[in-house]
Amino acid sequence: MPQQIRRLLVAFAVFIALFLVLRYVMIPTSFGEYGHYRGRSLEDNAAKPLQFTGNSSCIKCHKSIVEEKSRGHHAGLACETCHGPALKHVTYADTLPHAKLPDSLLLDKPAERKNCALCHNRNMARIKFRNDTVNISMIKQVDVMKHNLVDKNNESLKCIDCHFPHDPY
Ligand code: HEC
Ligand code: HEC
Ligand code: HEC
Ligand code: HEC
Repeated sequence: MPQQIRRLLVAFAVFIALFLVLRYVMIPTSFGEYGHYRGRSLEDNAAKPLQFTGNSSCIKCHKSIVEEKSRGHHAGLACETCHGPALKHVTYADTLPHAKLPDSLLLDKPAERKNCALCHNRNMARIKFRNDTVNISMIKQVDVMKHNLVDKNNESLKCIDCHFPHDPY
C-alpha cells in the first residue's frame, strides 16, 4: 500500500474515533427515548411553574364581563390573551377577604392602540384569498396608524374610546 494512502487511512480512523467519542459525550442520555429529541425535555417543561389559568376561572368574580364578552365578536378570545397570565391573580384573589387587591396582583389593562394592533393591524400576509381552502375566520383589519386616529380637536383617540374591548362593534 502506498504510504500516502496509509496516512490517509490513519487520519480517517482518528477522525471517526473522535466523532464517536464526541457523539457519545454530547448526546443526552434520554435522547431517542420517545422520538428524535431529548426525552427529559418533557419533564423539564412540565416542571415549570404554571402561569395561565384559562377563561373558566374568571366567571366566579367577573361574571358580567364574561357574559358580555360571550355575546360579541370577541367571544372566541381568551381573557389572558389581552390581560396576561392570571393564575396568581386568581389564586390570591380567592384567598383575600376584601375586594381590593394589591397592585402586584392586578393585571394589565391593554388600553393602548398598539394592544389592539396585535390582531387588527393591516397585515398583507393575512389577506384572505377567495379560493382559500383553509377555512379560517379572518380578523378584520384596520390601518392602526390612520383609522380614526384623531378627533376634531386633533387629539389621538384610543380604540376603546369607540369600541368596547369586551364586546366590540
Ligand atoms: C377570586 C376572584 C377573582 C377571580 C377568579 C378573578 N379576578 Fe380579576 N379581579 C378580582 C378583584 C377583587 C379585582 C380588583 C378590584 C379592584 O381592586 O379594584 C380584580 C381585577 C381585575 C382586573 C382589573 C385590573 C386593574 O388594574 O384594575 C382585570 C383585568 C381582571 N381582574 C381580570 C381577570 C381575569 C382575566 C380573570 C380570569 C383569568 C380574573 N380576573 C379572575 C377578583 C378576581
Ligand atoms: C381584546 C382584549 C380583551 C379581552 C379578550 C378581555 N379584555 Fe378585559 N379589558 C380589556 C381592556 C382594553 C380593558 C380596559 C378598559 C378600560 O380601561 O376602559 C379591560 C378591562 C377589564 C377589567 C377592569 C374593569 C373594567 O371594566 O375596566 C376587567 C375586570 C376585565 N377586563 C376582565 C376581563 C375578563 C374576565 C375577560 C375574559 C372574559 C376579559 N377581560 C377579556 C381588554 C380585554
Ligand atoms: C387576540 C386577538 C385580538 C385582539 C388583541 C383584539 N381583537 Fe378585536 N377581534 C378579534 C377577533 C378574532 C374578532 C372577530 C373576527 C370575526 O368575527 O371573524 C375581532 C373583532 C373585532 C371587532 C368587530 C369587527 C367587525 O366584525 O365589525 C372590533 C371592532 C374589534 N375586534 C376591536 C378591537 C379592539 C378595539 C381591540 C383592542 C382593545 C381588539 N379588537 C383587540 C381579535 C382580537
Ligand atoms: C373615533 C372612533 C373610533 C376609534 C378611535 C377607532 N374606531 Fe374602529 N371603527 C369606528 C367606526 C365608526 C367603525 C365602522 C365604520 C368603518 O368601518 O369605518 C369602525 C370599524 C372598525 C373595525 C371593523 C372594520 C371592518 O372592516 O368592518 C375594526 C376591526 C376596528 N374599527 C378596530 C379599531 C381599532 C383596532 C382601533 C384602534 C387602533 C379603532 N378601531 C379605533 C370607530 C372608531
